Amino acid sequence: MIQMDPGFFKRLEGQQAPEYLWIGCSDSRVPANEIVGLDPGELFVHRNVANLAPPQDANYLSVLQFAVDVLRVRHIMVVGHYGCGGVRAAVDGKRRGLVDHWLHPIREVRQDYRHELDAISDDNQRLDRLCELNVIRQVRNVASDVFVAEAWARGQKISVHGWVYSLGNGLINDLECSVQSQADLDAL
Ligand code: CO
Repeated sequence: MIQMDPGFFKRLEGQQAPEYLWIGCSDSRVPANEIVGLDPGELFVHRNVANLAPPQDANYLSVLQFAVDVLRVRHIMVVGHYGCGGVRAAVDGKRRGLVDHWLHPIREVRQDYRHELDAISDDNQRLDRLCELNVIRQVRNVASDVFVAEAWARGQKISVHGWVYSLGNGLINDLECSVQSQADLDAL
């Protein structure tokens, strides 16, 4: 790194001023910075199993508040991935312990979209659609959080996006559910 860019670490030491918050899955195949091609210092990252943004989770909320109030990020990306083992584990009916509680919100998403999901005959395709629906739900969670609402109210510009990454080809599918205002959120 120092050979390619002699000033790299000096600049990094100066400050962290990322414009982006990434909320993604802990899966080792979905590394945030590498996927979007950003250097250290450019992306604030929060990862957990199945990229959830639960409104009662103090860890996620602390990250969100710091990103919005202190770092003043412009974009928040909720990034799921196709074939997510967390999403699969949420709905396969097997008992695993604590993680079953963590994954409960995904079972709620499945329940809400039961008719759409039941109409998909292929198991993998149904799971991938649930990965998308989960991302959309988490976008809604983030965008409806009070920290984001207060930021919008004081004129701060924040967009919340929903993406799903494909392990198969390395491409990102933008679910086009971006929310930039209270009006967008009401329409979602
Ligand atoms: Co995953």
